Amino acid sequence: MTDYSQQVLPGEGADDYARYMRTDTLLALQRRPDEVVHRDELLFQVVHQSTELWLKLACAELDEATERIKAGELETATRLIGRSSLGIELVTGQLDMMKHLSPWDFQTIRTVLGHGSGADSPGWRAVRKHGRKISSAFGDLVAQRGIDLAELYRSKLDSVEQRLAEALIEWDERVALWRASHYKMATRILGHGSVGTQGMAVDALTKLIKHQFLPDLWRARSELTDTGPMGTGAA
Ligand code: HEM
Repeated sequence: MTDYSQQVLPGEGADDYARYMRTDTLLALQRRPDEVVHRDELLFQVVHQSTELWLKLACAELDEATERIKAGELETATRLIGRSSLGIELVTGQLDMMKHLSPWDFQTIRTVLGHGSGADSPGWRAVRKHGRKISSAFGDLVAQRGIDLAELYRSKLDSVEQRLAEALIEWDERVALWRASHYKMATRILGHGSVGTQGMAVDALTKLIKHQFLPDLWRARSELTDTGPMGTGAA
């Protein structure tokens, strides 16, 4: 009979859960109570560190999706982009935890951050890199297959290409929604007219909200509006 109290995995840790999940290492990555200048450093670090983990997954999925687009496996790519979008949605939701951080208490936490800023987040850097790569792969696909993006939405709803386009729009929008939430959260804590730990004006974050990884897909929507029954016919 199996003895479930026995550990069967190799490695460090008191039990198999600790050995596989490497919880001893993971839970030692936050500053100890005797190291912190404010108790909410734990809240601050947990939000940032868990964001890095979710974005690691989101970017691995997006990277794989890019390869699938290049291989013409569009259904699989669409599914993987959905996973990536959900990862970004989850990190957007957890920004709400920052509402429990008082603006005055954050001033104490700031004293130990140096010039460290989320602008140097490896997870967000990877989002930018993989966002550009998938945008380029989609552009190549559109060119190779001679796809008219506006036509895709007029007459090819539910085609594999249209579902891929929707997954990409969703992903692009999720990034913008994170940026919008991050901007509101940053102004709630720092106020308007302030600068961040890297010297960037908080209000300059608004420009990034408009950034598009897939401008052609957004343009196609404008074209539909312009050429629709109520449109100006400009496109
Ligand atoms: C107390 C919470 C936070 C405040 C007050 C804050 C504030 C700021 C400010 C002022 C900037 C502009 C650059 C600078 O000078 O630092 C910035 C940029 C940035 N922050 Fe945060 N931030 C917070 C939390 C986070 C979290 C949890 C993340 C997730 C990793 C993050 C990721 C970023 C990114 C990626 C940028 C670059 C701008 C962009 O891509 O939209 N920040 N933040």
